[in-house]
Amino acid sequence: MRVLTGIQASGKLHIGNYFGAMKPMIELQESEELFTFIANYHSLTTSKDAKLLHQLTFDAAVDYLSLGIDPHKTTFWVQSDVPQVLELYWILSKFTSMGLLERAHSYKDKIAKGIAANHALFSYPVLMAADILLLDTQKVPVGKDQIQHVEMTRDIATKFNNEYGEIFTLPEHVVEEHVATIPGIDGQKMSKSYDNAIDIFMETEKKLQKRCNKIISSSTPMGEPLEYEGCNIYNIASLFLDENKKVELQKRYKTGEEGYGHFKKYLKELIWEEFAEAREKRAYYLEHPDMVKDILSDGAQKMQKIANAKMAIVRKAVGLY
Ligand code: ADP
Ligand code: TRP
Repeated sequence: MRVLTGIQASGKLHIGNYFGAMKPMIELQESEELFTFIANYHSLTTSKDAKLLHQLTFDAAVDYLSLGIDPHKTTFWVQSDVPQVLELYWILSKFTSMGLLERAHSYKDKIAKGIAANHALFSYPVLMAADILLLDTQKVPVGKDQIQHVEMTRDIATKFNNEYGEIFTLPEHVVEEHVATIPGIDGQKMSKSYDNAIDIFMETEKKLQKRCNKIISSSTPMGEPLEYEGCNIYNIASLFLDENKKVELQKRYKTGEEGYGHFKKYLKELIWEEFAEAREKRAYYLEHPDMVKDILSDGAQKMQKIANAKMAIVRKAVGLY
């Protein structure tokens, strides 16, 4: 099965991103033909700073490689290294009605947030359709907010196919229903916009401990049994634990011999340990940026071949040859 995931590089990754999006993606590598790219053309719609966009693109590549994207299994590239997608975007634009784009939730949300309406923002779903259709993608794992974009892709592809023949594969979205919303240190959904996130790559163990210490917990006095249900510390810790370990932790809560401080320390240890290998890999890649560039360039080359072959078919179909 050909699966495509697009990453928006938007800065530091947190534990919610990891369990909600990255871990499921990394696991897919084992069973599917995975294609993953950094959507920097898409990021350009809201970027104002060239250096920052460039840096975030590189950082995202380093982080994803460190956390488990394996370039031997997965084709991994930067969107703008395969500009063929922009030609397809233009061709697909003709099969995209204004009404379809006007109904896009994510566009309306962005405008409501005060982001200036411009054509790139408006036509963003057509570029996403081009990403997906260029590759004959079968499945697109997405968050709920992106389902509509995959549906729009199907709509655009169907219109094209009706006119020019069965050129494009209709993709399906995959939403991980069972992935829970990971809570932040205040118990609300962890998000970089809410200042409640625990980042995956903290510089030092001490800083991670400080962040864990900020987790809001109830104020049961020392010596009394603690309730693990509804406890933010427990909820975050349980992401890292198998069933037996969860039961052990539940018992520790119930004895009343330990306070929240102990559990915050335990959580810090769990997080630090879970990402130990990724941290080492990341330090290595940061010292060897050329390795990262080579991996991305290999990925782009593989994609170039696929893109050229598909575009030859599309161009012929529409008469651009
Ligand atoms: P943020 O809310 O921090 O801005 P993004 O919107 O950039 O995060 O999310 C990137 C990916 O991580 C999405 O696929 C999203 O579903 C996932 N994700 C983000 N926060 C959480 C969370 N708290 N729980 C589960 N998944 C999350
Ligand atoms: N729009 C997606 C997001 O914001 C990123 C993206 C761009 C994408 N092109 C894609 C995702 C193609 C999947 C397939 O998360």
